[in-house]
Amino acid sequence: MSMLERAEAAERAMIEELDRTVVKSAIYVSGDRDPRVSLTRPDNGKLVMMGPDPRLSPMPERPTLLDFFEHRFGRGNINHLMQSARLAQKNGVAEKLVLACLLHDIAIAGFIRGDHGYWAAQLLEPYVDEEVAWAIRYHQALRFFPDESVGYSYPQMYVKLFGADYQPDEYIRRDYEYARNHKWYMSARLICINDLYAFDPTVQVQLEEFTDVVGRHFRQPKEGLGWDSGPSAHMWRTMIMPTKYL
Ligand SMILES: [Fe+2]
Ligand SMILES: [Fe+2]
Repeated sequence: MSMLERAEAAERAMIEELDRTVVKSAIYVSGDRDPRVSLTRPDNGKLVMMGPDPRLSPMPERPTLLDFFEHRFGRGNINHLMQSARLAQKNGVAEKLVLACLLHDIAIAGFIRGDHGYWAAQLLEPYVDEEVAWAIRYHQALRFFPDESVGYSYPQMYVKLFGADYQPDEYIRRDYEYARNHKWYMSARLICINDLYAFDPTVQVQLEEFTDVVGRHFRQPKEGLGWDSGPSAHMWRTMIMPTKYL
């Protein structure tokens, strides 16, 4: 068996132990598999997963933003977000943009990695100030382009990650040009500036430090995030129940 076949067999065995059948969404496994080959439901006589997955940490009935930090976001990603937000605070960044720093990579932390700035902006738009969502959307493009006048150089880490000859995609370049001439340019740039030095495993930050910032600048829906009727509620629900069949 190849490594992929072995991994799939182990996963099948684990899924067999569940009371309900899980069929993964195409996007979760695209690349490992050819998405043109349909993922089929095994004929095992079981019902399919139509609610919370028992393998996951249970979410409260009416989840808040901070519940997603606790139950659905990667610990390392959360550290990075909190360190960025704390650095922004230390640098005297306006409070709503401290929130932007705290949330800028939530798509990486719990949703989809590629184009994470766009995904995070869409997740957050209904609940935050327009400028906060805008800044998060465009940090995606700005981080590839230096602005020495405000002390932002191309991250050395990117050379290591993408190679010295990496060129951003055309749509990133286009969105950078647009953002550079926008009145909120510096808001998105501030995310990049406070992002850059935020990878320090020795710095310990507690989420409670930001409870007030979140309380003042995030409009928590009373039904619970995901159970409201906002335009991105379904995306939060997908994080709550990522293996729901339909
Ligand atoms: Fe980012
Ligand atoms: Fe980041």
